[in-house]
Amino acid sequence: MHTLNVSLGARSYPIHIGHGLLDSPSLILPHLRTRKVAVVTNEVVGPLYLERLCAGLRREDVEIVTVVLPDGEAYKEWRTLNLIFDMLLREHCERATTLIALGGGVVGDMAGFAAASYQRGMPFIQVPTTLLAQVDSSVGGKTAINHPLGKNMIGAFYQPRLVLADIATLATLPPRELSAGLAEIIKYGLVRDMAFFEWLEKNIDALRAGNTGALAWAIERSCRNKVEVVAADETEQGARALLNLGHTFGHAIEAGLGFGEWLHGEGVAAGTMMAAELSRRLGWLGADDVKRLGRLFERAGLPVHGPALGAPRYMELMAHDKKVEAGQLRYVLLRGLGHGVVAGGIDPAIVGAAIEACCQQ
Ligand code: NAD
Ligand code: GLY
Repeated sequence: MHTLNVSLGARSYPIHIGHGLLDSPSLILPHLRTRKVAVVTNEVVGPLYLERLCAGLRREDVEIVTVVLPDGEAYKEWRTLNLIFDMLLREHCERATTLIALGGGVVGDMAGFAAASYQRGMPFIQVPTTLLAQVDSSVGGKTAINHPLGKNMIGAFYQPRLVLADIATLATLPPRELSAGLAEIIKYGLVRDMAFFEWLEKNIDALRAGNTGALAWAIERSCRNKVEVVAADETEQGARALLNLGHTFGHAIEAGLGFGEWLHGEGVAAGTMMAAELSRRLGWLGADDVKRLGRLFERAGLPVHGPALGAPRYMELMAHDKKVEAGQLRYVLLRGLGHGVVAGGIDPAIVGAAIEACCQQ
């Protein structure tokens, strides 16, 4: 097991990464305030891992209450969120009861928002079970639900007390979901870690094949990158925005098609190609770099073209981006591979042309 620390003063917490960690309640016990936990999971992950997690805790005399949510991005909304509150109230959960999120980013984001707001904040633990959640969404305290008009529009920054990433859970993850996680992994290389990007070019096949050594290394390196950024800029006043590379365009794809049609990581991959193409048109990135990036995404099993929604529709959806400031959209772009930048004041005509160039014909 490897442990990283998210350094946020009184809100610091460990990320444990390893094989079979679900069977180790001793990793969880020190982070509980009382001997009661509420576990939030979904109808896919629950049958696979809920009993494993609960059995160990029960042996330690921890009282457990659970809620099993419907599966999918389409359910990341207020009615499903309310199912968590229903359970917490019905089961007389207190402010000191610990909420545990067992699942991918959808469960983690929703459970985190529930924990942030139930009785104005209860302790919270992330047990991520997708590659995407283990490298990104479980770390850093962003929690949210979607609104039909925009992705992750309603939420809070609320840090967990522990992240427990059990790599063994990835064995049951469908290949398409594994690829979606690779999009966020590639992102770290692109915005701030060129050596990692080059390592990914060499090891992408091993990662797609589920090689546990390669996965463990990529998860740790990704978390290391994320931890450094979050410690420097917890609430995204500056550098944390770099972790949104491809997301402005990707969120437009997700919302434009209806949540759940494309996976989040797929939107990020096609959106990153749009950001790269825009960077090229601004003279910041070479054509060879854009091609090189496209090759890596394709080898990762990810789309390099977005759906043909039309540039005006993309722009309309992107107007809801959280990086809009004083009515102006700021973009995460590349000044070379491995070097992300945030830039505003970009001519919408150039943005539109870059989008069109990266859409399916
Ligand atoms: P997800 O949570 O929908 O999980 C993907 C699918 O895999 C689901 O069907 C899920 O039930 C299933 N699944 C989960 N674990 C499994 C396992 N071990 N075996 C088999 N099936 C399993 O999607 P995701 O990709 O994990 O997360 C995407 C979400 O994360 C998006 O809503 C996105 O906005 C959010 N996100 C948040 C942050 C953040 O910082 N908070 C960062 C990135 C993404
Ligand atoms: N996933 C982007 C962030 O956490 O900031």
